[in-house]
Amino acid sequence: PARVVVLLSGTGSLCAALMAADRPSFTVVAVGADREAPGLAAARERGVPTFVVPLADHPDRVSWDAALAGAIAAHRPDWVVSAGFMKLFGPAVLAAFGGRLLNTHPALLPAFPGAHAVRDALAAGVTTTGATVHLVDAGVDTGPVVAQAPVPVLPGDDEARLHDRIKAVERVLLVDTLDDLASATTPSDQPRSTP
Ligand code: GAR
Repeated sequence: PARVVVLLSGTGSLCAALMAADRPSFTVVAVGADREAPGLAAARERGVPTFVVPLADHPDRVSWDAALAGAIAAHRPDWVVSAGFMKLFGPAVLAAFGGRLLNTHPALLPAFPGAHAVRDALAAGVTTTGATVHLVDAGVDTGPVVAQAPVPVLPGDDEARLHDRIKAVERVLLVDTLDDLASATTPSDQPRSTP
């Protein structure tokens, strides 16, 4: 199976869904964070290795980014998934993992990029928002879209309620998308039959 490192900053419900997915195409080999995030607990309970690389432990973002790239690389991932990781990646992470670094975002990009996507969608009065899985590039939520799923905005929605419904859709979208990508790109353990 493809080796997946998941990065998070918060609750980690998306990470938990990836660890519980039980798809033969991928396995979560480590979970990293930029702080002692609550989401690390689920990994520790499963015996999945964790690492924490706080920005405050480094003199600047460049050295933090280099340390993060090293911590990720130590687990030799085929794919890296940013699942509620709330910091922007720098040049070292992008150089090492560009093209196999996925982010999941709680809006239909290019609509509502940034850290407050759910709040911004509510404020704009849209009737449909959703979730996006995309490849990460140097911009803020700008990389190529891989998959999207819509979620209706319902009367009476507040940010928490709408975000909970988006995350329910987002968990399925992320697991299915990673399954598709990992199946397509990771050589199977079976020997190939020669034509
Ligand atoms: C998810 O909705 C994810 O898309 C969002 O944070 C949530 C994490 O949920 N990420 C961003 O907003 C990134 N800009 P979780 O901690 O329960 O997995």
